[in-house]
Amino acid sequence: MGEYLPAMKVSDLAEGSISTVDLKGLHVLLSRIGGEVFAVSGTCTHEEADLGRGFVVEDRIVCPLHLSQFELKTGEVVNPPATVPLRRFNVKVLGDTIFIEV
Ligand code: FES
Repeated sequence: MGEYLPAMKVSDLAEGSISTVDLKGLHVLLSRIGGEVFAVSGTCTHEEADLGRGFVVEDRIVCPLHLSQFELKTGEVVNPPATVPLRRFNVKVLGDTIFIEV
């Protein structure tokens, strides 16, 4: 089991938006959907594009390089060329602070 590290403030993550943070050498993509916060890897599993530069369609992040889509809640791949899901991180919210388990 990893440790929970503070990542950012909930109030800085608007509903439907994304943000990236780097924690312990990991690039993490945070999103807020339906008031809940989710965290997956922020690096595309296809050719390592920064998903923080991608765009959100419904509950998915679209890779800016070759347009694979991943579910923000689970990291699941929706379409090729990526075939490997994104790592998903556990999230805890305490007060206004988002903590990610790394
Ligand atoms: S780098 Fe993301 S789909 Fe190719």
